[in-house]
Order: sequence, then C-alpha cells, then structure tokens
Amino acid sequence: MDQITIQSPDDMHLHVRDGAVLTSVVPHSATQFARAIIMPNLVPPVTTVKQALAYQQRIFAAVPPGVKFQPLMALYLTPTTSRNDIIEASKHPDIIGFKLYPAGATTHSEAGISSLTSIYPLLDAMQEYDIPLLCHGEVTDPATDVFDRERLFIENELLPIRQQFPALRIVLEHITTHEAVSFIEDNTQNTVATITAHHLLYNRNAIFSGGIRPHYYCLPLLKRKQHQQALITAATSGDPRFFLGTDSAPHPRHRKEATCGCAGCYTAHAAIELYAQVFDDNNALDKLDNFASKYGAAFYRLPQNTGTITLHRQQWECPKQYDFDRDKLIPVGAGDPIYWKLDVS
Ligand code: NCD
Ligand code: ZN
Repeated sequence: MDQITIQSPDDMHLHVRDGAVLTSVVPHSATQFARAIIMPNLVPPVTTVKQALAYQQRIFAAVPPGVKFQPLMALYLTPTTSRNDIIEASKHPDIIGFKLYPAGATTHSEAGISSLTSIYPLLDAMQEYDIPLLCHGEVTDPATDVFDRERLFIENELLPIRQQFPALRIVLEHITTHEAVSFIEDNTQNTVATITAHHLLYNRNAIFSGGIRPHYYCLPLLKRKQHQQALITAATSGDPRFFLGTDSAPHPRHRKEATCGCAGCYTAHAAIELYAQVFDDNNALDKLDNFASKYGAAFYRLPQNTGTITLHRQQWECPKQYDFDRDKLIPVGAGDPIYWKLDVS
C-alpha cells in the first residue's frame, strides 16, 4: 500500500503553550488534525472554564486561514478545584475533562495534587457529572526509581481510584509500560489510554545513543524495548481503549539543551506521518484509521469527523529545527528520514 486515506484524525493530548509561540506550533497540529485536546499546564495553570475559553480563542487566532481546527480544553485539577467547578465544566461542550498532575511529576505540575485521596470528593463529583479524568500516571516520591514511576502509580493510586469510582471515565495518558497496557486490558470500557508516537518509535536507548540526547527526554520516560513492543501491540490491536495522543510538548532549545533540561518531546511537525510509519512497519496500516480518528472520539462522545486525510509513502527529511519565538524548537527525529507524507493539497 503506497497511499492511505483515513478519517480526519484527532490528537487527544497536546501541548501548544501560549503567547508568541502559538503561531509556531498550532499550524503543525491544525494541518494534520481536526481536533486536539489542549493540556492546561500553563503557568499559571488553566483551572476555570473562563480561562480555558479565553485560551481556546488565542489558539484559534494561531490557526492558519482556511484551516479548520477545533481545540478542546482540559482543566487543571488543583487542591482548590471545587465541586462547582466540576459541575460548570461538565455543562460546557468544549471542556473535555480534568487533568490530574501529581505535584512534581512533570513540566509545570507544581500546582497539581499531592495527596490523591484528598481529591476523592472531586472524583466523586466527576463520576456523578460524567466528566473524564485525564491522568498523568506517575508517582512523585524522589526515592522511587524513575523507570518504575508509572507502574507504581497504577498499583498504588490508580487501582484504588478505579475500584472506588467504577463509573468514572479515566484516561491514562501517554502510557509507556506493558503494565499500563495490562491495566487497561484488565478493566472495563471506561478505562482507556493514549499512546504517543515517540513511545511507539523509540525506547530508552534513544536517550543515550552515542551521548546524551535531550530531545528524547520526556515524561513518562521512554522505557525498555519490551515495553515499546507492548505499546505497539496495543496500538495496532484494534482495541478501542487505546488511541492517539501525541503529547507533543514544545520547549525552546535552550531549555532542553541545558544543565537541567526540561521534559517534553516535540512531534507535532509530523505526528500523523510518524504514527503511519509505526503502523506500516508493523503491517497494521489498516488499523490506523480507528486508532487515530475513531476510538478517541467515541470515548469522549464527540461526533466522528467528516473529512479525510491522505498519506503517501514518500521519504522526506525531518527539518533540523523550527523557529520558536526568539529561540528554536528541535523536533524529535531532527534530520532523520520520515517515510510517509501527508497530502496537504
Ligand atoms: C509535558 C510538557 O512539557 O508540558 N512534558 C512531557 O515530558 N511530556 C508535560 C507532560 O505531559 O508530562
Ligand atoms: Zn503531556
């Protein structure tokens, strides 16, 4: 197969930041995806419907003329989130869920939650008003091995939540381990996971190949090859509980290439092409449409997109960098060949 046409896809986990850089990154996503769920980890965080709708307007302003793109908004759960905030959010169609960041787990998570049991009343309200919980699934105890943080979050935090709130719709974001795959498979249809392109394409060797490679540093970290393989199997399995979320997370070059570089991989420049490559390499191109375009919308109870996109088997070179306000943005796979190309005509 040298060409594939799929329903217009949705990116169910995306960081676009704010301000001047929106015009650098939003066009990449908008030309590939019909919709994206925008993460609320700005500084300060996006915690209210009003803030989210204002942020959504700033994103709309960065969409190229003639391109149709719908940003869907997640609100940031904080210790001061109230039951009323949840009720209000549940009534607004463009507010898609609440994002749980364990405090200290990742980039801009300082405003997040330190004690998960303390927010059980909020989870109860989310269950009652049927608004999804989007989890960054890692424990934060600094003594815990960084490669074990997702597995321990599932065992210690997520299992009790799953049992206590059986009707709560839960998304375990950007999964990285075979334990996460099993957790999803062992539960009911209201427990789902997003999978990034970079966790499908790479394993932890990429961070250390010939030297330290900060542009492959993201959270949760890339894991061993056996975990990568479990993610590939899940993504290409046709199980509707696994769907696309890039977690594309732009940072200025100087913040990545630093003594203490920050976490986040940028893939929005070629996201759907990178996923196509993984599915092709695993003889599963026929599964891409459901994974990229249908299962996420079904879980979030969104209408299916009506448009299509077409990808061609065509090699091109990933740009080495993009402009990013006054700095540069280094994409994942900079300078490497990409084997599929989106038809943008
Ligand atoms: C994300 C970011 O930079 O906002 N970083 C990352 O490594 N994935 C935050 C997140 O999703 O964890
Ligand atoms: Zn993210």
